[in-house]
Amino acid sequence: MDRRIREIGRALDADQSTARRDVLRWRRLIANSNNLLRPPMTENLFTSQSTVGEIVAAHPLLARIFEGVGIDYCCGGKRSLAAACAARGLDATTLVLTLTAAAQLPRDAGAAVDPAKMSLTELADHIEATHHAYVKSELPALLEKAERVATKHGWRDARLPEVAATVGALHDEMFSHMMKEEQILFPMVREIERGAADASAHCGTIANPIRVMEAEHENAGGAIARLRELTDGFTPKPDDCNTHRALLAGLAQFEADLHLHVHKENNVLFPRALAREGQMAGAQ
Ligand SMILES: [Fe+2]
Ligand SMILES: [Fe+2]
Repeated sequence: MDRRIREIGRALDADQSTARRDVLRWRRLIANSNNLLRPPMTENLFTSQSTVGEIVAAHPLLARIFEGVGIDYCCGGKRSLAAACAARGLDATTLVLTLTAAAQLPRDAGAAVDPAKMSLTELADHIEATHHAYVKSELPALLEKAERVATKHGWRDARLPEVAATVGALHDEMFSHMMKEEQILFPMVREIERGAADASAHCGTIANPIRVMEAEHENAGGAIARLRELTDGFTPKPDDCNTHRALLAGLAQFEADLHLHVHKENNVLFPRALAREGQMAGAQ
């Protein structure tokens, strides 16, 4: 396991191509996942002769790696990895190692912690570093795919434009929501944990922003539930293209992350922050 991670690191260090920065992002992801529970890494799942299209068809979430390095996996899906890498000035061995490692990353990395054992500050930091970072990275890419699929295939499935519009609304709501948490609510939570007397001064009790955030969680939950309905449970049809498959797999992953994200806030962070604020008020 460690040997494979080191091999990936050496291969990436040797790669001086223009796409190196994007691949390095994946190396950090792989390195950061090293401490999480996961099955031992097996031999490479792919070879340089695997086609880009067959890789995404079997592992739709790997589409994000191809997007990151500028390889077209949809219309250009019949090309081998070797040919696609040559066209982009990338090292195919590096990409094979990266794809194999990414395919074996745990899908529930955010679940591998026990929020009940964290301090309020640790939990707010954890939510920002995992769930907020994930939404900021993945939701724009999902929106881009949803719009592309609606434009190309909307004529044969009238639900696809609504999928794109729903992802667009969810994108805007989530970015606004996370900004409020990061700039207003989470700083208040950290202040409350530090015992600062004026923690709630500018918003009254912390119950006020929490109420707003919980209402917004309801809206986001409704949007992802609607997306599940519109896509028959994120299930691809046999003739769906790879972009469409990557969209559906990405939405299913997004739904799982959103549920975990909201659980940590609604059921752990918020009640504990309210209780802490109540204790502080009682002590004054
Ligand atoms: Fe959040
Ligand atoms: Fe939230």
